[in-house]
Amino acid sequence: MKVARRWLAAALLLGAVALLAAGCGGGGSTSKTEAQTATTTASTPAGTSTSDAPAALPATFPAFTADQLSAVPGDNWLTNGGSITNDRFSSLADVDTSNVANLRGDWITHLSGSGLASKYSLEGQPIAYNGTLYVPTGADDVFAVDATTGRIKWTYRAHLPDSLASVVCCGWDNRGVAIGDGRVFLGQLDGTLVALDQNTGEVAWRSSVASPKDGYTVTMAPLYYDGRIYIGPVGAEYGTRGRMDAYDATTGRRVWRFWNVPGPGEAGHETWPKDNDEWKHGGATTWNVPSVDPSLGLIYYSTANAGSDFDGRNRAGDNLYSASIVALDATSGRIRWHYQEVHHDIWDYDAPSPTVLVDAPINGTTVHGIAQPQKNGYVYFLDRATGKPVFPIPETAVPQNAIQRTAKTQPIPTMKPFSPTKVSKQQLKAVQAAADAAAPRGTKAPKIQAGSIYNGWGTLPGTPPKAYTPNNAGGDNWPPSSYNPQSHMYYVCSQSSATASTLTPKVAAYRRGRIYFGGQLFASQGFNTPGLLTAYDMTTGRIVWQKHFPRSCYSGAVSTAGNLVFVGRNEGQLEAYNGTTGEKLWSFQTGAGANSTAAVYRVGGRERIAFLAGGNALAGTAHGDSLWQFSLDGTLGQVRAGSSATAIQHAGESSKTKTGGESRSPADTRAVGDVAAGRSVFSSNCSVCHGDRGQGGNGGPNLTTIPAARTVAGVVKQVTNGGGGMPAFGGQLSAKQISDVAAFVTRTITNK
Ligand code: HEC
Repeated sequence: MKVARRWLAAALLLGAVALLAAGCGGGGSTSKTEAQTATTTASTPAGTSTSDAPAALPATFPAFTADQLSAVPGDNWLTNGGSITNDRFSSLADVDTSNVANLRGDWITHLSGSGLASKYSLEGQPIAYNGTLYVPTGADDVFAVDATTGRIKWTYRAHLPDSLASVVCCGWDNRGVAIGDGRVFLGQLDGTLVALDQNTGEVAWRSSVASPKDGYTVTMAPLYYDGRIYIGPVGAEYGTRGRMDAYDATTGRRVWRFWNVPGPGEAGHETWPKDNDEWKHGGATTWNVPSVDPSLGLIYYSTANAGSDFDGRNRAGDNLYSASIVALDATSGRIRWHYQEVHHDIWDYDAPSPTVLVDAPINGTTVHGIAQPQKNGYVYFLDRATGKPVFPIPETAVPQNAIQRTAKTQPIPTMKPFSPTKVSKQQLKAVQAAADAAAPRGTKAPKIQAGSIYNGWGTLPGTPPKAYTPNNAGGDNWPPSSYNPQSHMYYVCSQSSATASTLTPKVAAYRRGRIYFGGQLFASQGFNTPGLLTAYDMTTGRIVWQKHFPRSCYSGAVSTAGNLVFVGRNEGQLEAYNGTTGEKLWSFQTGAGANSTAAVYRVGGRERIAFLAGGNALAGTAHGDSLWQFSLDGTLGQVRAGSSATAIQHAGESSKTKTGGESRSPADTRAVGDVAAGRSVFSSNCSVCHGDRGQGGNGGPNLTTIPAARTVAGVVKQVTNGGGGMPAFGGQLSAKQISDVAAFVTRTITNK
């Protein structure tokens, strides 16, 4: 914890000094397009080699065929997962283990300060088509960028209202866009699906997927396939009912809807109680883009936790199709098979990482499989025609808790987990320390016992709580895994952290659009905890190598035919590893938390790698707005850690979303801050972890119980210096903003 504190403080303070390191001198140019300003630093002169763009596909996106969408990516990166196998594998091999050390930046483009505030997470994986990149930020703004020059061709601004804060559970983010038939498609946090003109970014049509008033938002990359857009909302923390929808890509009209929680009369409804309506708020929402097997006509996706998150008292049964892989007929939306990874989830073990098609020779035959790395630390590897496990996954008896109505057994794979499932001594200590720090004035935190996966139920206040791991951060959270079909190696980016949860004394009552946790993680290590990068041989299911990182692996993996694995690090580096041995071959500081997934494609006859470095709200990493392109032709060197956010501010931008202020001197703890201004600082920077009313949420404790949150001095100190898993805001917020937010916290949250 101490180390984390110092690193974060250092990273954010460094961020206050605008500095693009030496090596950027290749002709920094400021380019203006109609509605926005952007700074682009380029190492190659504008306008070279566009004529080398591949001729196989026309400049206008066609209505891509299933063959085009399933082809192994080479010239283009057509879908969020590279192809509809979702394996995030590129056939390009110009950059390989022998020369990757020479990879440098072609250009760096600042995306006009979009998504700089702490509440945003830049998780969007770029799409590359015929020399143009399409990438969203956490503000749901979309940028079309010329891959040759780095110039922004057009910008779409979503102008999301701040009021969404009350239903954005886990950071303002967007995982990527889809393309097809002349359009760019995006899902927005406000619940809409938007189609943009490929050439102008103008809106062609909008459809409502779900309403934020009911607790829904959208974060996933849509899927374009067979003339339809497949998309579903999230919100399993707000008493929603998950679903997957298909829309006509030309008109935006809905073609079908599949409810991830079956209703009365539908198969699976019997896994919910008969005597209440919990199924209506049963969660099982959709976090990520589906994969597709065109030969079977099926789309595959994984679903979120059951709702309410931590409370199983009122929903006896397995609670289908929560925490499951679901296979639907792509044309009709009818279910073909399902596989539930966690029965009757009460740990927030949802399945936000995308499913990946895995074809591998096993015992002499080619298995056509599908894999999904769960938050619980295990890979679920199934036959994709039948949904049956490839390697055994026995239903295993687990410890029971009658109050929580726990499932008798859980499917525990024989493939070794990628994240530990037993609480270590260190973890127990960290969880206890978090509980002690959060104990209300004049009380002592309860003594926490060591539990394990499936043996750490939320307990009622007054009964001894148990720590368990992985916690609600995972395991593998949303970061996508990658499969190399040539070497049959499978790469999973994950983390390891523990928590203890308590139930609310009474079963929580559902209220429309409000948090529906049914308990709280009163002592959690949060998101930015030790990370792991694991390589499995899918022909045997065995782990071949594993890397340990001091902080979470919170970016996802991409592999290439050059036998490389690209992974981003919380400290800001994009890195390349030898796919066979795990040896680190290249590490490059991008200037902001490297918390997104790379895209690989060819422009000007050369392999290029695009990467969005913008930081992450939950991982608490340095924010920025840097879109990078790398190649062996590149001449741009690394930049200073944390320098991305300030580079744009110092380039004379007038960004509305910039978080910096006029004064960097320490906030005066006696000054009387402005409560109204503090409210907006809180909603941009704090609510992502502490909840919109300070009630606690993902990674941040309930402020109403913490003594230090009652005094202006206590809040100013914590906000300025951070610590205990919270980033320091001293280099990012002005003294006035800090005293305003301290006024807001102490007047309206803790001392009301
Ligand atoms: C990335 C998640 C995250 C964000 C963003 C965040 N916090 Fe925190 N905050 C935490 C965590 C984790 C702790 C617990 C620290 C500990 O246990 O020492 C915490 C603790 C606190 C405390 C109690 C300090 C103490 O001594 O225990 C206060 C007050 C606080 N945060 C205020 C804020 C304010 C105000 C903001 C916005 C400017 C903010 N936080 C943003 C995660 C976050």
